[in-house]
Amino acid sequence: MATTLLDGTDVTRRFGGVAALSHVDFHVHRGEILGVIGPNGSGKTTLLNVISGIFPLSGGTINFKGQRLNGLKPHVIGRMGIARTFQVVKPFGGLTVQENVAVGALFCQPERPRMGEALEKAEDALESVGLWHRRNAAPSELTTSDRKRLELARALATGAEMVLLDEVMAGLNHKEVDKTMDLIRQLHARGLTIVIIEHLMKTIMGLSDRIMVLHHGEKIADDVPQVVVNDETVIKAYLGERYTRARQSRVSEE
Ligand SMILES: Nc1ncnc2c1ncn2[C@@H]1O[C@H](COP(=O)(O)OP(=O)(O)OP(=O)(O)O)[C@@H](O)[C@H]1O
Ligand SMILES: [Mg+2]
Repeated sequence: MATTLLDGTDVTRRFGGVAALSHVDFHVHRGEILGVIGPNGSGKTTLLNVISGIFPLSGGTINFKGQRLNGLKPHVIGRMGIARTFQVVKPFGGLTVQENVAVGALFCQPERPRMGEALEKAEDALESVGLWHRRNAAPSELTTSDRKRLELARALATGAEMVLLDEVMAGLNHKEVDKTMDLIRQLHARGLTIVIIEHLMKTIMGLSDRIMVLHHGEKIADDVPQVVVNDETVIKAYLGERYTRARQSRVSEE
């Protein structure tokens, strides 16, 4: 039977009058790739923010390996084994690519930070994302695709067993998307548990074992990809609009 690594019950986060997440129950199995989709503003990033401790919950509970995460600081949650990437990538401009990744490792070292060790971990992480040859570059010299890889490497350097990926493929071309999908599959094959937010259906369908759909902060579906894409509520709330748009742009290209 699958082991639950992360689970949330009644997860709620309000910003003033806006319920960014409303009574969401979710779980992630060890070794699973869980896709999270939903329209803009549906609460996807907020979900990652409450899991990783950036925002406290307004209600509900989240557990990782049976330990309550509520109220814990991001670095403590990081040390427990959860890393995440940010939708808007903001590397430290004054540091090299390798140093930026080392920050990820330092952030999650349980004892006194050791720079040498962190730089070594950064080297391994850069190698696994195919960015080792750019280790001495400044982040500003990287392409969008490489900057996304840097973000991924920073998460990997923490040594996490679960990574939360927030639109790591946004802004990439077809070839880069395919390369990143291969990379995610490799990381998964090495035992990483992955939660991935993406708007590209091809990516989500191709990678996910299961897909959870958010709409106005509520969970409206949670099932295997084939069931989710044929779900009436999901088509109405999200996919219908996207498919119509895709069809329209194909027609106008013809
Ligand atoms: N720090 C914040 N302060 C106030 N409101 C916020 C904050 N973060 C998110 N929200 C609101 O919460 C709702 C959910 O936002 P969230 O960023 O989680 O959506 P999302 O699904 O990630 O959208 P997108 O696909 O555009 O990235 C939105 O209404 C948003 O305006
Ligand atoms: Mg978002």
